[in-house]
Amino acid sequence: MVYTYQDFEESARFLLQQTPLRPRVGIILGSGLGRITEELTEVTAIDYSDILHFPRVKDPYHQCRLYLGCLDGVPVAAMSGRYHYYEGYSMAETAFPVGVMKCMGIETLIVTNAAGGINPSFGQGGLMLICDHIKLCAESPTRGFAKEVLGERFFDISHVYREDLQALAKEAAARLGIPLWEGVYAFMSGPQYETPAEIRALRTLGADAVGMSTVPEVIMAGYAGLPVLGLSCITNMAAGISQAPITNDEVLKIGQRVSRTFIALVREIVSRLAGRDA
Ligand code: HPA
Repeated sequence: MVYTYQDFEESARFLLQQTPLRPRVGIILGSGLGRITEELTEVTAIDYSDILHFPRVKDPYHQCRLYLGCLDGVPVAAMSGRYHYYEGYSMAETAFPVGVMKCMGIETLIVTNAAGGINPSFGQGGLMLICDHIKLCAESPTRGFAKEVLGERFFDISHVYREDLQALAKEAAARLGIPLWEGVYAFMSGPQYETPAEIRALRTLGADAVGMSTVPEVIMAGYAGLPVLGLSCITNMAAGISQAPITNDEVLKIGQRVSRTFIALVREIVSRLAGRDA
């Protein structure tokens, strides 16, 4: 799928017609963060399947809903459920909502996910600030886009995980007494978890955590000129780092266990973002 400017713009206009709010922050909710939507006020929630130009949801049991609402008074667009590359969507489809949120006027994107820990000093259930990423597979979300859709064809993403947002997240975590590691997130296409040899290779390449999401969306954000703050919940140690088998049940269970801390941190970050720009 190759999108045009009109696709992004029409989808954004459609969404803005559903709410009087003008979201300032976009949040992609990974495992464990979904319940943050219960804290929103003035909510309009729309299933992805009802949003103009959003890809059709393949898994009917997976909650996929966009919440437009206020988090502690700050207007946000929160994606509960995301499109994963491993489900068979193209990278462009996976990342399409990010371009739409940019067209809706958001100023900052917060991306969150569950990830396997590669850095041996990490442990299950901790949080990591994403400082950079590694993507080894070839496809890009903007591959094949016409010369200018939301940005330039060739674009620099070396500061997409913006340093000032990282500093803000570290201050927020320190204020709440939440330990926050920092590291590089490696994207693997999945859906299989990695082999121990792949994890050793990623470690050699400088990765601290590994997961199957987020990077397509971050690349789209970089393309559209949208600054990103990324947070991973380390739900398990990656293959071979620990001998324990990796299961989706475990990933979800740890995500749930960390949920309250993770939600508190994101709330503090959003309040600080709003205060900073006020
Ligand atoms: N690998 C890839 N994706 C993941 C993992 C992992 O170990 N844990 C949670 N998401």
